[in-house]
Amino acid sequence: MLRIGMLTSGGDCQALNGAMRGVVKGLTNNTKEVEIYGFSEGYKGLIYGNYRMLSASDFSGILTRGGTILGTSRQPFKLMRVPDENGLDKVAAMKSTYHKLNLDCLVVLGGNGTHKTANLLQNEGLNVITLPKTIDNDLWGTDMTFGFQSAVDIATHAIDCIHTTAASHGRVFLVEVMGHKVGWLTLHAGIAGGADIILIPEIPYDIDKVIQAIEKRKKMGKGFTILAVAEGAISKENAKLSKKELKEKNKKSPYPSVSYEIAAKVQEKTGQEIRITVPGHMQRGGSPCPYDRVLSTRLGIAAANLILNQEYGNMVSVINGEISKVPLEKVAGKLKMVLPDSNIIKEAKLGGISFGD
Ligand code: F6P
Repeated sequence: MLRIGMLTSGGDCQALNGAMRGVVKGLTNNTKEVEIYGFSEGYKGLIYGNYRMLSASDFSGILTRGGTILGTSRQPFKLMRVPDENGLDKVAAMKSTYHKLNLDCLVVLGGNGTHKTANLLQNEGLNVITLPKTIDNDLWGTDMTFGFQSAVDIATHAIDCIHTTAASHGRVFLVEVMGHKVGWLTLHAGIAGGADIILIPEIPYDIDKVIQAIEKRKKMGKGFTILAVAEGAISKENAKLSKKELKEKNKKSPYPSVSYEIAAKVQEKTGQEIRITVPGHMQRGGSPCPYDRVLSTRLGIAAANLILNQEYGNMVSVINGEISKVPLEKVAGKLKMVLPDSNIIKEAKLGGISFGD
């Protein structure tokens, strides 16, 4: 008998269900008896022993369903070693649940924070296999995370819709795309949507350069401009501040987000009519795109293979188009960022896109 615990942790994304379905299919088709324990709301379920036993039929018909059938929550890694409000040692509690259920392996689907905790649990002696999920595509050790391409589709669709109305009215439009720390989603949706200016956290912008790019378009007779702006886009000036100084500055800012600040400055200097669109959590919602259905199924089956071969302590990943695996300790705590001198940025610049730098 193989006993598997499964949880989804952190912000949700498309194809979490597809990935879990892949794991279960990969196991049930290749071994005789499997018991699956699904933990509710991520690590919270493991800490407080909230779980339900699931059978293969629970994973049937969920390939196309967004969200996660297990529920999820954010359990910050930095608080994992801090006792809860009742003095409970969370790490000890997670280990105790795992051992009480006599699990052979814990399957964890998550992003960056989730992987730090998964690695911690591995170091505490648990068998762990992880799958890379996030719309941000910022997990180190994999070329692609599931959820990313679905979110690119949605953000691109938002920019497409804005394009026609921006052109009709001759307006400057900012579309704020998700991604506080990295700009993959903004970069891809920006290029796919034909944005004129793309602002991402990895390339701090100079507001005067942004304005110059808008003015240049105006001189060329293009009355409208589309900016794809990452949630975490940062000015050159702010990039020089320490984390603490930036936090203090942002607290005093009258703007709800960076796009509003950029819009106010552009309006003041150019006098052009400006609008802002924030698609927000729509980008994480709905049915996974076909690419993510394929990717999550492949990764799920690969995770099942690792479990069957007892190759614990790994994240399944994609490297150069092939399904692979990476040791958890290599993934934990590392962000995969857009490199400002990478080919995709150089090509975009050659194609006339301004990054405001
Ligand atoms: O999960 C990644 C992400 O969607 C980021 O792109 C975004 O900045 C953040 O989560 C939003 O978090 P929350 O769902 O907690 O508002």
